[in-house]
Amino acid sequence: MAKKVSVLFVCLGNICRSPTAHAVFRNLVQQEGLEGEIEIDSAGTGAYHVGHSPDKRSTQVAHSRGIQMSDLTARAVDFGDFYQFDYLLAMDESNYRHLYEMALPEQRDKIHLFLTFSNEFTQTEVPDPYYGGPQGFEQVFDMIDSASHGLLNHLKQHHL
Ligand code: 4NP
Repeated sequence: MAKKVSVLFVCLGNICRSPTAHAVFRNLVQQEGLEGEIEIDSAGTGAYHVGHSPDKRSTQVAHSRGIQMSDLTARAVDFGDFYQFDYLLAMDESNYRHLYEMALPEQRDKIHLFLTFSNEFTQTEVPDPYYGGPQGFEQVFDMIDSASHGLLNHLKQHHL
């Protein structure tokens, strides 16, 4: 069997945006019966929340949209990720720069701003919701949902 295509969602803490993307994209992949063909993970560029469960505010918004994410646990990005994953999907420019600096030059093509896969949003960054209000978490979810559909279409066209 061909190797799975693999995607790693990356934000700062790995407790809000990237675990939401992990769970939303996982749900979409399961709905399409593609679990055997796509590997999914998430990680943070910072290590402050390693070992923590996702932020309750993210978990609650996801739950209200029918997505389960409380099984996920935060970890930090490591150098092995640049070998293991085909796509490293940064939530914002700061995450993107962090990944870019960690990567070997030949690994840098794997790094993308996740929201650029959305067909609906013209912004390129999923903003950090951590210090904001509940509306930020709803907006983050909408952006991630849209980019997830775009990403799956992209993978179907190029890999599956
Ligand atoms: P995330 O959100 O990067 O979407 O997981 C954040 C979580 C924690 C912090 C910042 C952003 N923090 O500063 O602790």
